[in-house]
Amino acid sequence: MSGKFIVIEGLEGAGKSSVIEVVKQFIESRGHTCICTREPGGTPMAEAIRECVKGDWQEAVAEETELMLMYAARRQLLVNVIHPALERGEWVLGDRHDMSSLAYQGGGRQIPEDKLMALRELCLQGFGPDLTLYLDVEPETGLQRARGRGELDRIERSGLAFFQRTREKYLSLTNESPTAFLIDAMQTMENVHQDVLSTLEANLP
Ligand code: TMP
Repeated sequence: MSGKFIVIEGLEGAGKSSVIEVVKQFIESRGHTCICTREPGGTPMAEAIRECVKGDWQEAVAEETELMLMYAARRQLLVNVIHPALERGEWVLGDRHDMSSLAYQGGGRQIPEDKLMALRELCLQGFGPDLTLYLDVEPETGLQRARGRGELDRIERSGLAFFQRTREKYLSLTNESPTAFLIDAMQTMENVHQDVLSTLEANLP
């Protein structure tokens, strides 16, 4: 028996945390065990990489370094947590996954597609989510919400143009993928949750 992998994506301030709660309850109400992961992170080593990649350094952080750290953390999580859970028949609910790298490092940082694809193949080896919910929010609104939660970290301080490119990439990736669905996260939280539930109802077996 094999479980399913569901991923929640979106810019900072899109409301991922509250949507994750809603999706987790939905999965459990269907009788499945659900474990939650976050990226970068989710294993001791991947959490250390998270601190490292989000942190401030007294040196420039090269875009390629940031990209490789994201995929290093992802590989640790896949091998040690996601694959074993799915093999046990559990469902995995991911707070971000590979679409984040395509959107932030590919779209936002403008790393050429061929470089990204080589790392992606090394890390994922064809693996991908069964369903992705992309919570779409305007960068200005998302960043304002993020600022309300405290100081912005290194990536969050990348500027509005960076987040506009990231959002554009998210929109095109969602549009191109048959298993990714856009949720308008500019609506009230109640309506967002309603849309999330109806999308799950319609697209999960
Ligand atoms: P968050 O999960 O708390 O939003 O923090 C993760 C940060 O890392 C967020 O700014 C998005 C960024 N990120 C990337 O740039 N690329 C990635 O592949 C992942 C997983 C996250």
